[in-house]
Amino acid sequence: MLWIKALHIVFIVSWFAGLFYLPRIFVNLAQEAEANTTERLLLMARKLYRFMTMLAVPALGLGIWLWMGYGIGRGPGNGWMHAKLAIVLLVIGYHHACGSILKKFEAQRNTRSHIWYRYFNEVPVILLLIAVILVVVKPF
Ligand code: HEM
Repeated sequence: MLWIKALHIVFIVSWFAGLFYLPRIFVNLAQEAEANTTERLLLMARKLYRFMTMLAVPALGLGIWLWMGYGIGRGPGNGWMHAKLAIVLLVIGYHHACGSILKKFEAQRNTRSHIWYRYFNEVPVILLLIAVILVVVKPF
């Protein structure tokens, strides 16, 4: 079980590296006017999005294994797990939102400012903070 948990943490960390960095590229794209630089940033963003989607699958799969397979967080008195699952859904939603924002940039239809993306960039920080507290502290 500890091996599965260790791998779960490794894939979560790698997935979040993408969730932190992709919106940083959006900040740059929203500020950039030069065509060549924009094209290079879009290439980076596309590759990163593909890679972080591939990382999300084992990260989530290993979590489901811990939950369903080993029964951690199942049954009564495990409110933290329900709360964590709600946070996981928000993280998946955020991941999808990144995908649709990327499509908008590709179609040159972005209307949002770099300031907006700076705030958007903080969302996964807060979600990660809550998820880790829930799973480690298990406050309820
Ligand atoms: C946003 C995505 C996720 C994050 C940030 C996250 C984070 C973590 C972390 C840091 C741990 C290690 C806690 C420890 O050392 O005890 C952990 C364990 C665990 N995770 Fe996740 N996880 C995520 C997704 C999932 C999913 C989708 C599931 C299941 C559906 C899941 C189920 C579990 C379980 C059952 C444990 C073991 C908890 C324990 O041993 O007390 N996780 N998770």
